Amino acid sequence: MELFFLCGLILFTLFVAVSLRYLFSNNSKSSYSNLPPGNLGLPFIGESLDFLSNGRKGHPEKFIFDRIAKYSSQIFKTSIFTEPTVVVCGAALNKFLFSNENKLVTAWWPDSVNKIFPTTAQTSSKEESKNLRKMLPNFLKPEALMRYIDMMDSIAQKHLAADWEGKEQVTVYPLSKSYTFWVACKVFLSIDDPERVAKFAEPFDLLASGVLSLPIDLPGTLFNRAIKASNFVRKELIAVIRQRKIDLAQNKTSPKDILSHMLQATDENGRHMNELDIADKILGLLIGGHDTASVAITFIIKYLAELPHIYDKVLEEQMEIAKSKKLGELLNWEDIQKMKYSWNVACEVMRLSPPLQGSFREALSDFALNGFSIPKGWKLYWNAHSTHRNPECFPEPENFDPTRFEGNGPAPYTYVPFGGGPRMCPGKEYARLEILVFMHNVVKRFNWKKLIPDEKIILNPVPVPAKNLPIRLIPHEHLN
Ligand code: HEM
Repeated sequence: MELFFLCGLILFTLFVAVSLRYLFSNNSKSSYSNLPPGNLGLPFIGESLDFLSNGRKGHPEKFIFDRIAKYSSQIFKTSIFTEPTVVVCGAALNKFLFSNENKLVTAWWPDSVNKIFPTTAQTSSKEESKNLRKMLPNFLKPEALMRYIDMMDSIAQKHLAADWEGKEQVTVYPLSKSYTFWVACKVFLSIDDPERVAKFAEPFDLLASGVLSLPIDLPGTLFNRAIKASNFVRKELIAVIRQRKIDLAQNKTSPKDILSHMLQATDENGRHMNELDIADKILGLLIGGHDTASVAITFIIKYLAELPHIYDKVLEEQMEIAKSKKLGELLNWEDIQKMKYSWNVACEVMRLSPPLQGSFREALSDFALNGFSIPKGWKLYWNAHSTHRNPECFPEPENFDPTRFEGNGPAPYTYVPFGGGPRMCPGKEYARLEILVFMHNVVKRFNWKKLIPDEKIILNPVPVPAKNLPIRLIPHEHLN
């Protein structure tokens, strides 16, 4: 009873606090006579229920398209996650947002996310965290990643041997998650013992469910468990980093992983990254890469099952590469460069089913956009659907057509599964490699059929088939 009362009190306090904040933000709008068209919805929840329920029904884009039809094709206001938010649509406004990072806007995450993943932005000075951000792409640029392709290939082979071969049916999404997590543990930390990897993976599911929960930090709540999971992973990472530093100091051979690269790298002032910074960066990469590339792989498998003529062309390309290899020879950079058609297929999959729908920014000052006022502190939300499914950007947008990516490909700022500008996903090239390595290995071994022909797609918070995509495997023995 007491617990019930306490929870009621907390929810009430939260409701009052957020309602006051909402009223305050509505008051502040009196000084802005020219806000974008749209509806802020109810106090506290705003239009979040519609936003979330469209996602749960598998049509996240509907929230956007309903409002584009009602208010404006480029810009409208709403309120989601308790924040007054301006949704921007189309290539021109994507360009505006991406090119004004740290000038008019800055990246923004809901408070609950910041509590679960405190970053160096909170633990270091602003200047230090900016320097660290600048260093991140160095660890993930193609020249640095080339040397990990053979690692990815050998993990893909071990993964398929352990979890796919000899099975009549498999469920794709959990398996693709376990593949991408195994690759991450190996490439970042040289951890590849499957049991240790599986143990390390456990807290990550808690982290994901915590992000979606009510931000109440009390024993037993999902939110509280997510914070604990995050602390646990950070501690484990620090232990691995300390051990590696000892090994390096004793001149033991250092594995060629991203951790070694980070420990040896210096910023523009010649300073090394400290343990916490490195733990933070690796945690950020593990989280950034956890549910994204695995979702892309899951949807690639889905579309290849639905479109046999596309599957055949991917198989043809990959078999050409396979035939050029000696027995047991692992994939390399040149092989990846030959996988052009397969990558166009992956791109078309991410156009129709982007693993991340979009992300938020916060206005750093009052400014005008398309003739409307954007108040300081308001959030802005860019989303991939407004261009990916727009016939002006992609003719006949519902058609699956990988040739859209041939030649110069889509017009700038129309194809944005990885975002754009200075905050563009730093894991883009890494994701390309692990996706292509997986495609090579899976089509070489199998064809497959979906077991649930019309499986619904739900948002969780990334889009996934509701039953995780069970498939029947058809091994092509003669090709192996
Ligand atoms: C198909 C796979 C992936 C997709 C579609 C994807 C997409 C995105 C998007 C849309 C953003 C937000 C950009 C913005 O706010 O404008 C992002 C950020 C990020 N991604 Fe990825 N990502 C993928 C894979 C990865 C991988 C494999 C890693 C790590 C190795 C990674 C690490 C990150 C990080 C650290 C950020 C935050 C960057 C920042 O805040 O500045 N991502 N990603």
